[in-house]
Amino acid sequence: MQPTLEHLKATAPTSEIVSQLESHGAVVLDDLLEADVLARFNAEIDVQLEKEAEGKAVLSPAIRWFMGAKTRHITGVAAKSRVFAEEVLVHPALLAVCDAILLPSCANYRLNIAHVLDRGPGSEQQLLHRDELVWVHLPEPHPEVQVASIIALEDFTAENGATRLVPGSHRWAKERKPEKKEIAVAEMPAGSAVVYLGSTIHGGGPNTSAAGRRRGMHMSFNLGWLRTEENNYLSVPPDVARTLPEKAQALLGYAAHDALSSGGGYLGVVDTRDPMELLKSGEL
Ligand SMILES: [Fe+2]
Repeated sequence: MQPTLEHLKATAPTSEIVSQLESHGAVVLDDLLEADVLARFNAEIDVQLEKEAEGKAVLSPAIRWFMGAKTRHITGVAAKSRVFAEEVLVHPALLAVCDAILLPSCANYRLNIAHVLDRGPGSEQQLLHRDELVWVHLPEPHPEVQVASIIALEDFTAENGATRLVPGSHRWAKERKPEKKEIAVAEMPAGSAVVYLGSTIHGGGPNTSAAGRRRGMHMSFNLGWLRTEENNYLSVPPDVARTLPEKAQALLGYAAHDALSSGGGYLGVVDTRDPMELLKSGEL
């Protein structure tokens, strides 16, 4: 029998959500996006997806394979969707989880990457992986460096390729491979999200439906002193960032990482000042 994932309401106390993550490495948050937010977000994504072709060029053939040949992919979402920048990126339930898990190891955290993955019929099971391997040079053991999520932008079913996750794998030895019976299927209605740690093994499921695509958004946050997967400064340049809420600017990396109060130093300044201040004053 396959394991199942715990479901909590997105409004559940942060301590309960964090407790599930610490115990199992993953938890589904039901109703993370209200129906109205989801509808407006999907309407903006519809416009973007029309411009996207399956299998377009990416960093390398290996990454193309990893993303899937039948995937349509939207990146730099904060520059393309106001709903994302104002209501999804800054969602308080997810940020509260990041506060609890990431802030003990950094002065602030930031968006690692947010991208929409629209996986077509015939998409294969993605390679099961840990997202934190983008920082493969980090020595082991290390504290959690990443909080990730997959938000269902339409219903996720076993058939259309709901994300597969391996509960408990965040505590496994790195070389251990999951058996089929250890893999859970994150079936969930549109608007819900599976939240998981950077150390939890997971991957997109195979889309075996006849015609249905599976639209989801991967959004993850990482310790503020690590380089991010997407170059958010170039994807959301100052001219765009200036128009976004301050919290979104900070999460996109415009906030300096100031660890002076922890006896450390600073990162990410411009002219030895916090870029957030420069955006506000019009100097950036
Ligand atoms: Fe992943």
